[in-house]
Amino acid sequence: MLKVLVCVSGGGTNLQAILDKAKAKELGDVEIVRVISNNANAYALTRAAEAGVSGVCVSPKDYATRDEFHKAFLQAIDEVSPDLVVLAGFLVVIPEEVIIKYRNRIINIHPSLIPSFCGTGYYGLKVHEAALERGVKVTGATVHFVDEGTDTGPIILQKAVYVKEGDTPKDLQLRVMEEAEWEILPKAIRMIADGEVKLG
Ligand code: GRF
Repeated sequence: MLKVLVCVSGGGTNLQAILDKAKAKELGDVEIVRVISNNANAYALTRAAEAGVSGVCVSPKDYATRDEFHKAFLQAIDEVSPDLVVLAGFLVVIPEEVIIKYRNRIINIHPSLIPSFCGTGYYGLKVHEAALERGVKVTGATVHFVDEGTDTGPIILQKAVYVKEGDTPKDLQLRVMEEAEWEILPKAIRMIADGEVKLG
């Protein structure tokens, strides 16, 4: 059994894709043991509750210092002893102590074909705005291991998505989510659960 913890910040559509695959028994021998959000109002927490998965909010706003937030975040992870930490639309920089303790056991979904349109400042709609600005014909999504850098860890899976004439950033974001993110993030978890991708 692979114990999976998912970190979210917003709407939680990637979390929903994971929950749906788990419910359909298509995620392999996996248990989603906790969802952590840095945002108390994240609809992702509602999705977790509706799926019967424990959701907790650990927000930097609730701590006097960044260091205290880091300690609380690490504790909220340690409490459930996950084998795998999945960042699904999570917008908080992962504290170094977490990277060190869970090295090669943290994965992230990024809405572009890394190494394009990634790194500091490239998140959410900004990624798709940059892709349209550059005029690329193909973009996509990437699942990668998380290391101390930003979107720099080893790549696990990628899927390409065509840009269409007249796409707005929102159009492109939705197509990348529908055609790539919501497919390759659960697939990466399944590959890890099945031992096709090694952890640690
Ligand atoms: C979206 O921009 C998605 O491309 C990226 O994170 C954002 C929110 O995703 N991965 P979600 O709906 O909260 O999963």
